[in-house]
Amino acid sequence: MGELLQGWKRSCYCTELSAANVGETVTLMGWTNVRRDLGALIFVQLRDRSGLIQVVFDSSTLSKADFDRASTIRSEFVLAVRGELVARTGSMVNPNMKTGEVEVLVREFKILSASETPPIDVDDNCNANEALRLKYRYLDLRRPCMQKNLMMRHQIAFCARRFFAENGFFEIETPILTNSTPEGARDYLVPSRVHPGSFYALPQSPQLFKQLLMLSGYDRYMQIARCFRDEDLRADRQPDFTQIDLEMSFVEEEDVMEVNERFLQRLFQETLGVEISLPLPRLPYDQAMSRYGSDKPDTRFGLELCDLSDLVANTGFSVFQNALKNGGSVRCINVKGHSADFSRKEIDALGEFVKTYRAKGLAWINAKPDGLQSPIAKFLTEEEMAAVLARANVETGDIVFIVADANDIVFASLGALRCKLADKLKLIPEGKYNLLWVTDFPLLEWNEEANRYVAMHHPFTSPKDEDLDKLESDPGSVRAKAYDIVLNGVEIGGGSIRIHSNELQQRMFAAIGFTKEQAQKRFGYLLDAFRFGPPPHGGLAYGLDRLAMLICGTSNIRDVIAFPKVQNASCPLTGAPYPVDEKQLEELHIRCVTDE
Ligand code: AMO
Ligand code: AMP
Repeated sequence: MGELLQGWKRSCYCTELSAANVGETVTLMGWTNVRRDLGALIFVQLRDRSGLIQVVFDSSTLSKADFDRASTIRSEFVLAVRGELVARTGSMVNPNMKTGEVEVLVREFKILSASETPPIDVDDNCNANEALRLKYRYLDLRRPCMQKNLMMRHQIAFCARRFFAENGFFEIETPILTNSTPEGARDYLVPSRVHPGSFYALPQSPQLFKQLLMLSGYDRYMQIARCFRDEDLRADRQPDFTQIDLEMSFVEEEDVMEVNERFLQRLFQETLGVEISLPLPRLPYDQAMSRYGSDKPDTRFGLELCDLSDLVANTGFSVFQNALKNGGSVRCINVKGHSADFSRKEIDALGEFVKTYRAKGLAWINAKPDGLQSPIAKFLTEEEMAAVLARANVETGDIVFIVADANDIVFASLGALRCKLADKLKLIPEGKYNLLWVTDFPLLEWNEEANRYVAMHHPFTSPKDEDLDKLESDPGSVRAKAYDIVLNGVEIGGGSIRIHSNELQQRMFAAIGFTKEQAQKRFGYLLDAFRFGPPPHGGLAYGLDRLAMLICGTSNIRDVIAFPKVQNASCPLTGAPYPVDEKQLEELHIRCVTDE
């Protein structure tokens, strides 16, 4: 065991062989997938990254010593086999295997490695829980579906590099040990040994460096860039993740969108064979919110929101009145034809669901064949109810869900309810890829906690020309030259045209509550650079992990990352993060204060 290669070379991957190669002598190397011992014959499914092939150890053609050696082979042993490719005949053909018409009759072989019994099944049907799979990730990654995902990810990155290179973009690397590049999350900090008390920040994105590269005249930049964000993890978020990042000079919004549409068209063609027709649909932010309750709408199904505010302003229902009095709204979703699909218990569960989005309740109107049923009917006059039904286009057999609250709560809860309903009622068609741009974002959003405006995209995003004069007088109404690209309800990328004037950048910093001194301290190098001829520029970054997730058809970002982190930002494989030696801390001038 643990034999050496001693000059053996693989002739091809397992699944490159077919009936056309029968009679050839082949040398294959891989892992033992399945082994069946029939006494005089031992069948092994050999697995490499291309897939499986059957190899046969026959006691009548091998020496006794070799056959005895073959009988020690177990799952996940690493083998090199050399032999003749033969055709399988009749019932021996396995139509479920790509190489099911052939097998290798082994003449010589080496057992290159033994393996203990693996703690998880190295198989697509493996039903081990994810925690165990991630602890033994190196075995999990042997599974064909994981290999397929990582190969697809490679293909996406490769397609991006090729497309952008062909379109005049240079790939340029930017630092990992750097200064804070804010994108709205917390920074990961790295203590400096040589500068006691000082820290590097890992980049949340290459944003400022790519802008400086435009100032340096590189004109078109791209990078497959690692980014680090200390934020709450979700199914589509990781603390370290990868962007396909790009920036262009002398461009406006249209120019950035145009080249990216062509990229997406190419990407879907090359990876999935799916034809995307251009131009992609565009939806202004306001419409995305009012129609779908989301700035990343899933447009594969209807269930659009409908505003009832003006119709219910004077009803006897205090919940509606209060919401409207406080500047909120009353909106609904009409689930057409599904009146009978919701029991009271299910409706109550939906009420609990919207509460997780801070809604105080969920009102409903069920247009049953034998009449209307609704807990709020008693508060509405006949005319008011008739107007609501007409506005929401309610017919017998429909059921309507209503939320009244502050607008952000109405949108968040109905936006999420919309997706939940589509999922429950199976309204989402398979194999559909709805790409769209969301445009005309607000520049700023009010942050209650900080009691100030914050940049909705990032503080380097340019306001719309026509809104410039409102930056001080009415900051909340200023729109940005920002755009997000959305695929099936997931934000796969976002970008903007940047501010390229020092004066406007200073006004922007002031709008988000930075004093001149604070701005100079944090971003002085950018403001300084802007004194030396910055070109108009803009760009965009895709979340490569999210793109890969959608293209691979999974809803779990960890399925497309070789060594991902889990919910609490730890790595089950390596155990990171971990406490370090006192000595190491001392060198870094750090003392830990941890609660007992
Ligand atoms: P933004 O912050 O929108 O923009 O990020 C761009 C894209 O990166 C992906 N993404 C993530 N993916 C996985 N895990 C995360 N924690 C995570 N955070 C973001 C998303 C998102 O659309 N510098 C700007 C881009 C620009 O303006 O050019 C930026 O980083 O898919
Ligand atoms: P009540 O009279 O308090 O039982 O409420 C009547 C109905 O209104 C119930 O179905 C509640 O879930 C619903 N409701 C309560 N608050 C809201 C709200 N903010 N928006 C929509 N419906 C609500």
